[in-house]
Amino acid sequence: MVVSEIAIRLRPVSDEEDLDMFRRFCLEPGLIGLDWRGFLDAQGVAKRYAEDGFLGERDGRLIVEAAGKRTGFVSFTEGLYAGRAPYWEIGIALLPDFRGRGIGWRAQAMLCDYLFAHSPVQRIQAGTHEENLPERHSLVKAGFQLEGVVRACEFRDGAWRNGYLYSRLRSDRSPL
Ligand SMILES: CC(C)(COP(=O)(O)OP(=O)(O)OC[C@H]1O[C@@H](n2cnc3c(N)ncnc32)[C@H](O)[C@@H]1OP(=O)(O)O)[C@@H](O)C(=O)NCCC(=O)NCCS
Repeated sequence: MVVSEIAIRLRPVSDEEDLDMFRRFCLEPGLIGLDWRGFLDAQGVAKRYAEDGFLGERDGRLIVEAAGKRTGFVSFTEGLYAGRAPYWEIGIALLPDFRGRGIGWRAQAMLCDYLFAHSPVQRIQAGTHEENLPERHSLVKAGFQLEGVVRACEFRDGAWRNGYLYSRLRSDRSPL
């Protein structure tokens, strides 16, 4: 698959195959490496879709499509600093076959552009763990800057892991 900016799009969750992909991320150990938190309730997927199509006011998901294929999803969750400064925290998971082809950084850059266009937030942040070099590189290519290390903030695979916190501000240039 040849990847270009034009070939990638973010779209709302729209069919049963999208939901099946979400269920895989709930049930398949190893699919997201160190981000695996143990089995999650896969029935929650259909419930959430029925509730708001994964497009809530405070959080949501969009499907990442490349060359017409479903490759994974991006997520966004609202947070609040100091009681009055809203921000988004974003996340991403691509299926293994579609990793390392330039889809991840572009999808995250596109999600930022989308969120900055449709909400007045000043800040978008993303965290990953020290060992996740693909995501760390991908975030920098998507216009994020490393802010620092949040020590021992995630318990994964039997150990506390350091989190690497990144942000992209509205005033930072979009790489797209
Ligand atoms: C993390 C993830 C989103 C990255 O997306 P991707 O499409 O695989 O990465 P990209 O192809 O956009 O690569 C972006 C940069 O990272 C680098 N990179 C990719 N895979 C890498 C690897 N295994 N090791 C080191 N660098 C890597 C690329 O070389 C590229 O930099 P370059 O253009 O300067 O060469 C994707 O791999 C994924 O979904 N992984 C599993 C879930 C996950 O870890 N999600 C994030 C949780 S915090």
